[in-house]
Amino acid sequence: MIVVDACDEWSPLREVVVGTAYGAMFPAEDPRMIEATMPREHWAEFRPGHSFPSWIVEAAEQELQALAETLESLGSVVHRPRRVPWSGLGGYCAAMPRDLLLVMGNRVVEAPMAWRSRRHELLAYWPLLQQFRQSGAHWLPSAVDLSVDPLTSGPSRSGQWVIGEGRPAWDAADFLRLGPRTLVGQLSHVTNRSGIAHLRTQLGPDTRVHLVQPHDPHAMHLDATLCPLREGLALYNPERLDPAQLAGSPMEGWELVPAPLPEPCDSPPLYMTSPWVSMNLLVVDHQHVFTEARDEKLQELLVSYGMTPMPMPFRNVQALGGSFHCATLDLRRDRRRTEASSSAGSTSG
Ligand code: ALA
Repeated sequence: MIVVDACDEWSPLREVVVGTAYGAMFPAEDPRMIEATMPREHWAEFRPGHSFPSWIVEAAEQELQALAETLESLGSVVHRPRRVPWSGLGGYCAAMPRDLLLVMGNRVVEAPMAWRSRRHELLAYWPLLQQFRQSGAHWLPSAVDLSVDPLTSGPSRSGQWVIGEGRPAWDAADFLRLGPRTLVGQLSHVTNRSGIAHLRTQLGPDTRVHLVQPHDPHAMHLDATLCPLREGLALYNPERLDPAQLAGSPMEGWELVPAPLPEPCDSPPLYMTSPWVSMNLLVVDHQHVFTEARDEKLQELLVSYGMTPMPMPFRNVQALGGSFHCATLDLRRDRRRTEASSSAGSTSG
């Protein structure tokens, strides 16, 4: 039986999904979406029927398996997605469960993702969803017509983002949990204003969804821009955020530490992300945190803030589009002791 209950990004992790690289394909999205979000030097890779190099997929699967085993050795129950033949579905992969599902307390919310290649991704998690529901978790399906493409179906209100407002769209990785009733999130090339309204409706008025506005022309997913490490302490991306921008947010008063410039990495290529994917971390328990083995400056910084880095090779997973945070989905973390003092709140942003 799977008990779903996760309210933040740092309390002791008890149950988690670790993605699988099986069958990973380059997502053949519309060139406008690729050009808005993906590194220019790799745009030509995003064509139909094109799989990631097999050596990267195999190495990524080994890295994910090693992460799963390490989490189990630390006492977490680990689940893996079902293997789905993505090539026949025009799909991408199930290596990044963080993008599709948002766990908020005992609710599992399905994101109405903007990318056409990700419309079938729930197939990989279907057996797990059956178990969530049997154990009393609240499953909130997106209830959005995913055949409507937000890229072409409605006007963009600001012109800043490539998708318009033709239907609600949001990716779960555009949000971070700060407490039982508090999320921070961002608008991006995959999350529109109607998506934010949709999420707020899904979660109800007791949950505050506060929007931050990083400077990120290619914005897609907040978890390489902000990384909460424990209550009151977070890494931020100094190219995208000025801590002053968090005044008035639920992170006001937090100690905000600039992440170090990432180490350059050409092999395997970062096909889908900026090098800031280095700050896409998974915190295990207020203190222990998984980092990529080669990110030594980041590890030193974390040590200086009383954290204990757990370096693991993860470059091949990063080549598929995300690091430790993206490649996992917390299902259960211990409730923090200070929960009673956490903010209830009105919506804002
Ligand atoms: N889209 C985020 C980045 O590339 C993960 O930094």
